[in-house]
Amino acid sequence: MANDNKLQNIIAHCKEYGFIFQSSEIYDGLQAVYDYGQYGSELKKNIRDYWWKSMVQMNDNIVGIDAAIFMHPTVWKASGHVDNFSDPMIDNKDSQKRYRVDHLIEGHAETLPKEDGDALLAKMDQLLAVNDFAGLKQLIEDNKIKCAIGGTSNWTDVRQFNLMFSTEMGSVADEANVVYLRPETAQGIFVNFLNVQKTGRMKIPFGIAQTGKAFRNEIVARGFIFRMREFEQMEMQFFVRPGTQKEWYEHWKEARMKWHLSLGIPQEHYRFHDHVKLAHYADAACDIEYDFPMGFKEVEGIHSRTDYDLSQHQQHSGKKLTYFDTELNQHYVPYVIETSIGLDRAVMMVLSEAYAEEDLGTEEKKDDRVVLRFPPMLAPIKLAILPLTKKDGLPDIARDLMNECRPEFKCFYEEKDTIGKRYRRMDAIGTPFCVTIDHQTKEDQTVTIRYRDSMQQERISISAVKQLVLDKIKAF
Ligand code: GAP
Repeated sequence: MANDNKLQNIIAHCKEYGFIFQSSEIYDGLQAVYDYGQYGSELKKNIRDYWWKSMVQMNDNIVGIDAAIFMHPTVWKASGHVDNFSDPMIDNKDSQKRYRVDHLIEGHAETLPKEDGDALLAKMDQLLAVNDFAGLKQLIEDNKIKCAIGGTSNWTDVRQFNLMFSTEMGSVADEANVVYLRPETAQGIFVNFLNVQKTGRMKIPFGIAQTGKAFRNEIVARGFIFRMREFEQMEMQFFVRPGTQKEWYEHWKEARMKWHLSLGIPQEHYRFHDHVKLAHYADAACDIEYDFPMGFKEVEGIHSRTDYDLSQHQQHSGKKLTYFDTELNQHYVPYVIETSIGLDRAVMMVLSEAYAEEDLGTEEKKDDRVVLRFPPMLAPIKLAILPLTKKDGLPDIARDLMNECRPEFKCFYEEKDTIGKRYRRMDAIGTPFCVTIDHQTKEDQTVTIRYRDSMQQERISISAVKQLVLDKIKAF
């Protein structure tokens, strides 16, 4: 399957089977905003829960919080988002289409012979590094870069465009009431550093984790749920003694890659991308990239953020954000290693990895299926319970099994259609186990269990079903 097709097929499959819908679809949709349907929301929740368990439950020295989306506006001044969280943009006056300057130039560079393209990108990087907007416009004009929609080179000046959404808090719309929708969850952790450290009597090194919505007014928002305007992050800030940040950075790089591999995704589908050009507050940074249908792209960032954020908040709030290290008998502002993964990107990664179109045909008979090979612990539905017929008391036995299993994991009951069709529907939503209750069940209390990936079936005791599924979906 060509990768372009694969992405389109995944998008169509997600809609058809209740995973992901375009937001406000009946009004023609809202660009780069998506809703999760009945199976998508289960999948997303399972990934979030697995992350939370791995970070918070499995580590003595990491605790979780749930900070508000709205924060004091000075938070975003201190964090640098008001002044720096922007991209240089340019508009085409004829088509009214707005472009991120780097994307426009990169797109053009791809059409050039490699050497020329590289030279153009090197020039662009130099100009971006010093915010030389006039120089960037000149570069676009010199290279006769055209708008993909209008086909003209009638450009506005290059301007900065802040990616934060703002709104007003309270009843009066005035500038003093402007608040932002958070563009990252991390700042909710930084401003609560002392609250958590003191109330939890946390000793460095320790971490604070949280998951939650973040909002960015992305200009170029494409790639399905890869780049959205409303999305969810799972972030952890790990506070360490100054001077030890390098070793903790390496620790978290390795630990996070292990987490990714524990999803059953092979190593060759991942790679690290170490940043050469570092943000002004970072002393090391890398991305974990996954081989999406569009190629290798960032799914998670690991950043050694020095003491920048806490120092900035200390300065802007006038409140001390230091820690007293009893071993060193010394106060200091801790250094921070951050792990930051987009939950929606993780959903897209798991979907891309799981999606398979299989030809099961023989010479005599055509047959195929679409199957989502999710790791059982992440599957939206763990077990389908299917009475062979609607008669002879089989549904009652099936209902009893449902009642036994549903407190432990998500089950699905279905009695309509042939068993083959029901299996295929379960394959399409990634249900790892189906059990069929038939007439033999009444005689010997056994059921047929059918495994999604191998499609093999075996008879087991009905009393063994719950434990079998529990064993397979165990994460730790
Ligand atoms: N606190 C650090 C931070 O926010 P980031 O690299 O800007 O760093 C972290 O974002 C992660 O959030 C990314 O690796 C990506 O998975 C996810 N992310 C960022 N922007 C996104 C968007 N517009 N849509 C979906 N996910 C996004």
